[in-house]
Amino acid sequence: MTDPQMHLAAFITAGPGRPGGWRFPASVPGWLSADYYQNIARTLEDGRFDLAFFADILSVPDRFGSSTDTQLRNGALGSMRLDPLHVLSSMGAVTRHLGLAATVSTTYAQPFTVARSFASLDHLTGGRAAWNVVTSFQESEARNFNRDEQFPREKRYERADEFLEVAAKLWDSWEDDALILDTEAPLFADPAKVQAIDHKGEWFTVQGPLNVPRPPQGYPVVIQAGASAKGKDFAARWSDVIFCSHASLESAQDFYREIKERAAAHGRDPRQVKILPSIAPIVGATGAIARQIFEELFELVPPLGGLSTLAYHLDVDLSTFPLDERLPDVEVPGVEGHYREVREITEREGLTLRELGKQYGGRVEGGFIGSATDVADGLEEWFTGGACDGFMVQAPYQPGGFEDFTRQVVPELQKRGLFRTEYEGGTLRENLGLGRPAAREWENRIPRPASVA
Ligand SMILES: Cc1cc2nc3c(=O)[nH]c(=O)nc-3n(C[C@H](O)[C@H](O)[C@H](O)COP(=O)(O)O)c2cc1C
Repeated sequence: MTDPQMHLAAFITAGPGRPGGWRFPASVPGWLSADYYQNIARTLEDGRFDLAFFADILSVPDRFGSSTDTQLRNGALGSMRLDPLHVLSSMGAVTRHLGLAATVSTTYAQPFTVARSFASLDHLTGGRAAWNVVTSFQESEARNFNRDEQFPREKRYERADEFLEVAAKLWDSWEDDALILDTEAPLFADPAKVQAIDHKGEWFTVQGPLNVPRPPQGYPVVIQAGASAKGKDFAARWSDVIFCSHASLESAQDFYREIKERAAAHGRDPRQVKILPSIAPIVGATGAIARQIFEELFELVPPLGGLSTLAYHLDVDLSTFPLDERLPDVEVPGVEGHYREVREITEREGLTLRELGKQYGGRVEGGFIGSATDVADGLEEWFTGGACDGFMVQAPYQPGGFEDFTRQVVPELQKRGLFRTEYEGGTLRENLGLGRPAAREWENRIPRPASVA
């Protein structure tokens, strides 16, 4: 069921990424300049990456000890983040093929604004926009948007479903051939082909139409990373691409099987849902050099920086547990996928919380450390072993980590026929092997009562 060739996305951080990575001597702290991102974009396009991806959060995480101090002091993930859509616009201006994916929350945004932003980016880049749909999971985010606490998970996903429905209706509110540009008639746009949507639902009342024509890709590529049962169902219904994170090949294989089955249960072709686990490979000229880079990076991870990141991911205040004991079983309002991963590591390696902080901050998702050949062997095993359709690649430090990967690992994958040497198509959908949604495609995706389904 896998594609003949893998797909690669790059997980870029618009601020410090892995705890400690920003302290690595070769790391360049250029997060506040457009040049920095444009150079990464060129590197990724030279390496024929499918897309560049930006995660996002709408607060400075304060889950560790109810304070932003630990987060800021350690430069832990999320302590600073630029608005990804603006960053992507600057990257789109210096590239021709690279897909451009931004994270935007359905919990705190409005569908009209989001549909418009992504339609605009899709037009301006000739069909390269992608939206990572998140429902957000931090109390600190709720507090930046007029609320004392978050909506419960169930409600967040209900809102997300309706949000996607409205966004899709808005993208469809212009027929593909609505823009006529007949200067003689005059007929700028055919009014019969631009229609209001008159949506009235539980969460949103939106008249439409959008003030941007239908995007070149029909709908921008939709990405999602939910790991709860609700999240996986939402992803199977709406997503073209699913990001996930796993602590072992086996758990990646189980997840892959389950998502493809869920997609089929929603009446979709499972091949039209691409699953990309996140990996953080460390590559060196030899295995020994890669190991040395790993050790230097690991040394720079402050345990509290890792715990602060983990507290944010789980949305659990880990400062309340003893540092020199194991993390007990906890209720996780945040990312269940990350919790499963740390439970697996804690049990397997018998870690105290302090050690877990260091491990979590310095972990090499997928465990790929070695020469280009070693890393390519590992990726090939996952890809051909039914664990994924490709990978979301994190750099251990920016921007050098992306240069190492594209210059060393990509040619090795190409040599093995596992990765493209040229882009196949003009749009991101074409490069990902995804169909272009016809108008009203959303009707097949919305949840219906069992009697109607
Ligand atoms: C690899 C990965 C990347 C994610 N990136 C983000 C992100 O950038 N912003 C965000 O708010 N949530 C992010 N999430 C969280 C998910 O989108 C989702 O909101 C979260 O897992 C809670 O949903 P769940 O309860 O279905 O797991 C990410 C999750 C994973 C596994």
